Amino acid sequence: MTNSRRDFLKKTAGIALAANALPLMRPDGQSRVHAASAKLSNQSPVQSASDERFWSSVRSAFDLSPQFTNLESGYYSPQPGAGVKEVCEQAQRINELAAFYMRGNWPDDISRTKQQLARFSECPNEEILITRNTTESLNIVIMGLDLKSGDEAVYGPYEYGSMQVSFRQRAAREGIVCKVLDIPIISMHDDEIVKAYQAAITSKTKVILVSHIVYLTGQVLPVRRICDMAHELGIEVIVDGAHSFAHLADGITDLHGDYYGTSLHKWLMAPLGTGLLHVKKEKIKKLWPLYGDSNYATDKIEKLGHFGTQPPYLLSAIAEAMHFNQTLGLARKEARLRHIKNYWVERLADVPNIILPTPAEDHRSCAISLVGIRNKEPGELAKELYERYQIFTVSPGYPGAVRISPNIYTSIGELDRFVAAMKELAAAS
Ligand SMILES: Cc1ncc(COP(=O)(O)O)c(C=O)c1O
Repeated sequence: MTNSRRDFLKKTAGIALAANALPLMRPDGQSRVHAASAKLSNQSPVQSASDERFWSSVRSAFDLSPQFTNLESGYYSPQPGAGVKEVCEQAQRINELAAFYMRGNWPDDISRTKQQLARFSECPNEEILITRNTTESLNIVIMGLDLKSGDEAVYGPYEYGSMQVSFRQRAAREGIVCKVLDIPIISMHDDEIVKAYQAAITSKTKVILVSHIVYLTGQVLPVRRICDMAHELGIEVIVDGAHSFAHLADGITDLHGDYYGTSLHKWLMAPLGTGLLHVKKEKIKKLWPLYGDSNYATDKIEKLGHFGTQPPYLLSAIAEAMHFNQTLGLARKEARLRHIKNYWVERLADVPNIILPTPAEDHRSCAISLVGIRNKEPGELAKELYERYQIFTVSPGYPGAVRISPNIYTSIGELDRFVAAMKELAAAS
């Protein structure tokens, strides 16, 4: 055997070994909160929501910028340090193995992560797909629905802009009709909200789009009741779960929607560019793929996921994020998120000039809530909060208020500084 042939065999054997041993799915992740969490087993979620020792150990699992306080977790939430490490290590290993990995282990790693996500989200594996984000998940549905000219889609003006635009594109191209509800959801009871959706339905209505948590306000909508009402009338429901997945403890199928899309980089705290689509089994066959596919049968959800080459090193970090959330427990996490929202809202409730538009009842909001100062533009308020107090938040477009979205890494000290800043600004206005 020549030297070069021997060298080649040695090298490829090494690669094969490395590929087989590639530990893309770590069985137990690296969460630093594991030990602290085990000590809380006797506490109810609500009791542990105010256990500051525990939550400061959770905070220490994140590498947060010391330059500012981040109250804009609604856009995306940073991964714990272990998740970032996972992405970097896998990027390095996959880069070394290159096409050898992509042609070998990649498909298996996708299906393993999908199975883990199915278990985590309590959905049947054959009903979910890993996507890049909510936009992609919901566009697969909105663009793929078998609608014809004259068919109606019903949704509120508080739905995320790009979903409305996708429906409008279908209206312009194919003549479907967009019926946009004109209702002040913030001041309406859940019964009235369900009735308003029902009142908009006609014999031509085929589909409703509704957010579980409204991005503009943080309001939780009675999605399950809307789905049940719609199904009685033979209408399908697309649930925008961008803000609810791993934020509220509800399972996807508990909501009774036909389609559900979310971004894993929001409240699950997985890497940027990761999402999930759920489609009820019996609805898959009629959905047209957005990206043409001939690899899968028409009743397989994989037919909707012909995305081409993707960054595979995000997969194991999705698993890491699920592990981290499971260690916390979703009910405990939801209770903490509601606790910290109530903490700052209660301290600003009676302050002159402060307005708090988001409904405060437990079932109508969780981590996200609006706040404003009378006669102050929200853009100006966000600017002052950042420039004078190094507190970062945004005005997503609701008149007169900015959106405050803390997360499990937010400390009580940060919220105290935010409350003090708001009181100072309100007094000066
Ligand atoms: C309700 C809602 N839907 C969809 C999206 C789009 O999410 P992404 O950009 O992750 O696709 C967002 C983004 O914030 C949102 O708030």
